Amino acid sequence: MFNEECVIERLKTVDSTNKYIEKYLKKRTPAVVRADKQTAGRGTKGRSFISDEGGLYFSRLTYYTALPAREAFKIMIDYAVGVVKTLKAFGVESSIKWPNDVLVNGKKICGILIKNGFCGDFVDYSIVGIGLNVNNQIAKEIKDIATSMKKACGKEFDLEQVFFSLLQNVSVGSNIAEYRTYSAVIGKKIKVFRDGGAFDETALSVTDDGRLVLANGEVLSAAELDLKIGF
Ligand code: BTN
Repeated sequence: MFNEECVIERLKTVDSTNKYIEKYLKKRTPAVVRADKQTAGRGTKGRSFISDEGGLYFSRLTYYTALPAREAFKIMIDYAVGVVKTLKAFGVESSIKWPNDVLVNGKKICGILIKNGFCGDFVDYSIVGIGLNVNNQIAKEIKDIATSMKKACGKEFDLEQVFFSLLQNVSVGSNIAEYRTYSAVIGKKIKVFRDGGAFDETALSVTDDGRLVLANGEVLSAAELDLKIGF
């Protein structure tokens, strides 16, 4: 069971759970905020995240006391691997497109948005937002690149069960070795989009601090590039 003491707030509609949960920052209270749908769901790199009813959308605010800033990638590992383990528990095989998209059959099923707050050389808090396509219809503008648990398995899932399983699995602590095991990218040919250009490369590995190692010797952080698997 997920048994961390924290507020769990459930909303019908909100613009973004990642934005809404910031009110708990002022109270320094650990919290989870879940919404049935979002009207302005946020994605990485300023993108939006379509959040129609039937999906699972929540954010979690966690405080840390002894996590060095240089190890902040561990938060991402816990969440990405936790999503994969949860999907597995419901019979859905998935993999992680570096750094933190979860894919099923090559299509995105879950996005993770992380905002960390720092105090000196340590992580003070993290706000992690998860958007998992469960029973929601996939909007037609993203149907070639996105999927859902329902689409993958041909049946509906109990959102409450998926939610609590996910909270549990992201709370147990995972490691970089597990992350690499589930990688959809390591050893694969990828197209790298960087500084307005694009080039083809092979992804060799992910470093312990979460950067991508390319076959040309470059070691890049997620902020420096976008990628597509295959050419
Ligand atoms: C991405 O893939 O770009 C990240 C998407 C993260 C979406 C989730 S849904 C719950 C939380 N609230 C938001 O506004 N975004 C995150």
